[in-house]
Parts: sequence; structure tokens; C-alpha cells
Amino acid sequence: MIRKIAIIGGGNLGTAIAKGLVTSKKPFEGEIVVTRRRVHLIKSLEKYGIAVGQDNVEATRNADLVILAVKPYQLNDILAEIEPSFYENMLLISLAAGVDSQQISEMASGRKGIFRVMPNTAISIGESMTCISSFMATEEQEVIIRELFEPTGTVQFIPEELMASATVLAACGIAFALRFIRAATQGGVEIGFGSDLALKIASQTVKGAAELIIRGETHPEAEIDKVTTPRGITISGLNEMEHQGFSSSLIKGLITSFEKIENGSKKK
Ligand SMILES: NC(=O)c1ccc[n+]([C@@H]2O[C@H](COP(=O)([O-])OP(=O)(O)OC[C@H]3O[C@@H](n4cnc5c(N)ncnc54)[C@H](OP(=O)(O)O)[C@@H]3O)[C@@H](O)[C@H]2O)c1
Repeated sequence: MIRKIAIIGGGNLGTAIAKGLVTSKKPFEGEIVVTRRRVHLIKSLEKYGIAVGQDNVEATRNADLVILAVKPYQLNDILAEIEPSFYENMLLISLAAGVDSQQISEMASGRKGIFRVMPNTAISIGESMTCISSFMATEEQEVIIRELFEPTGTVQFIPEELMASATVLAACGIAFALRFIRAATQGGVEIGFGSDLALKIASQTVKGAAELIIRGETHPEAEIDKVTTPRGITISGLNEMEHQGFSSSLIKGLITSFEKIENGSKKK
């Protein structure tokens, strides 16, 4: 059972996870402490009942779970710093892209029970796609981690070798989807809407499209078929987008992000 969680690194993802855990459908009822050096920037977490601080050793003392939400290059130093707080059954989660569990275990004097968790920033509103891999963890520990993250969105355990791919598709994917919404909004303004209304229409349309797939368990192309009549306006627009490289540029973007992670991890 997890009674205390320490999140080291209260940046974008660290704070999103902290908020997600306390505001989810089944809020985490134990203690959460979040640290960063410029602690004044996370004071607002206190209104959610989350403690904030600068002292990583103090924060991790008696923690049942430590979530490392710092940049990958900082992992080594942070693990060396907090090691005095480690106890045998404490679980360790790393969010760092491109650092594998074996490396983390070595940095942490051969610890077991290590998880890599890749949520996206929608965790702050309970809508994350969270991919998880486990390393030398028991089934019971996996259940604990699954149950912790399940109320914050959708959870999928994956083999660790797919973690970089999950980072691109789910975590970077938030930015890719948002850029689609922004572009649709810009187009919406050009065809007559004010920007606020264009944004509202574009974002609800994307949400509806995603829900059709998620709830209907259908395929995008099946749903596209329903709105593309022969010689119709939708197919004309869609084909023009494809002529301009729509799917191709998205796929190339995903691969570019993926290669950047892969090349980064090879440098270490
Ligand atoms: N954002 C995403 O969607 C996303 C996607 C994929 C992977 N990740 C991974 O998630 C991790 C965090 O990413 P992020 O986007 O949240 O980065 P971020 O916003 O830069 O957050 C990192 C935080 O660590 C804090 N920090 C630095 N040194 C510290 C120390 N010694 N003790 C305590 N806190 C310290 C920094 O604050 P101070 O400078 O004030 O200390 C900063 O707020 C990274 O490893 C990244 O690879 C994030």
C-alpha cells in the first residue's frame, strides 16, 4: 500500500501527475510531496493538499513511492542524493525519456521494483494515456502501480523496448494533436469564425472524433467513410490535404522525434 509519494522535479509533468493523482475519479488519499529548486513556482499545489519543498532527501524519507520527474541528465545526481532515504520495498518510477531501467537500477545501487511511466500532460485532468513498463518488479507491485494510475486516464503496460515509441505517440502526441487543433482554428477564422468560436468548434470536433474511435471501438477509416460522399466536399478537402503531405508529414514528425530519443540514448 502506498501512503506517501515523493515527486522529485515539480515541472510540467511532475505537477501534472501530482494534480492528476489528487483530482482523479479515485483520488489518492495519502501524502504527496513535490520538490523543485525554485519552490515558489509550485506553491499553488498547496491548495490541492500537496506539500511542496526543496529538500529531496526530506521529501523521500519514508516515501513508499518516489517519482523521478527531472530531466534525464539529472537522474544520476538525484539518485545519489536521495539514496540515503531508500528502503527495501520502496518503489521507484522514472519519467525520464531515453534512460532505461537497467541504467536506473545501476545508478541506484542495483535496486529492484523500478517502473518507467510515460503519462502525458492530460493526466492533470484525468485523461492521460499512460504507458508503463516494469523492471524486476513483482506482480503485486505492478498491481499497485496500475491501480495508482488507472484513475488518471487509460493505463497500458508495455515492454520496455517500446517506451521510446510510447513517449512519441502519447507524450509528444499531445503537442501534435494540439497543433492540429490550432491549424484547424486558423482555417476556421479564415472561413468566417471568430478565433474563440473556431477554437471551440475545432477542439470539440477532435474530441468527438476521438470518442467515436474509443467508445465505438471502430477504425478511423470506417468513420471517414461515413462522412465522405462521392464527389463531396469532405473528400475533396481530405484529398487536397493528402496531396499536400498531411499523413506523410505527421508520420515523418513521429519518426523524427523517435530518432531523436534513440540517438540521445545511444550517446549515453
Ligand atoms: N512533458 C512531457 O510531456 C514529457 C514527455 C516525455 C518525457 N518527459 C520526461 O519527464 C521528465 C520531466 O519533464 P518535464 O517536461 O516535466 O520537465 P521540466 O518541466 O523541465 O521539469 C523538470 C523539473 O525538475 C526540477 N529540478 C531540476 N533540478 C532539480 C533538483 N535538483 N531537485 C528537484 N527538482 C529539480 C526543475 O525545477 P527547478 O529548476 O526549479 O529545480 C523542473 O521544474 C523528463 O525526464 C522528460 O524526459 C516529459
